[in-house]
Amino acid sequence: MGFQKVAEIKEFEKTEKKLVEVGDKKILLTKVDGAYYAVSNKCPHMGGSLFKGSLEDGVITCPRHGAKYDAKTGKGLGKPKILFIEFKMENNRSYPVKVEDGKILIDIDS
Ligand code: FES
Repeated sequence: MGFQKVAEIKEFEKTEKKLVEVGDKKILLTKVDGAYYAVSNKCPHMGGSLFKGSLEDGVITCPRHGAKYDAKTGKGLGKPKILFIEFKMENNRSYPVKVEDGKILIDIDS
């Protein structure tokens, strides 16, 4: 299907993240250093909603067990932990984003 509109730039005037749905996928759209990025909202560890976590300095922290992901690439930066047990770090899925005429588009097929 290629790029599809999911949001508008003006929606990011007061926030740096937004949860969008494309087909059956939930995607976390973020604004980091003035650019826009998209990753799967579903934490690769146990499916926590990354939208409900925090976004600081381009790092998303899962609210469930604290795994950290690069908002730009989805790369895993910090392992999930339950009590003192650390789990395997996995990378999150990221999607290409482009901006046209104030609209934010993402491509979930590539
Ligand atoms: S579900 Fe995200 S860290 Fe466990």
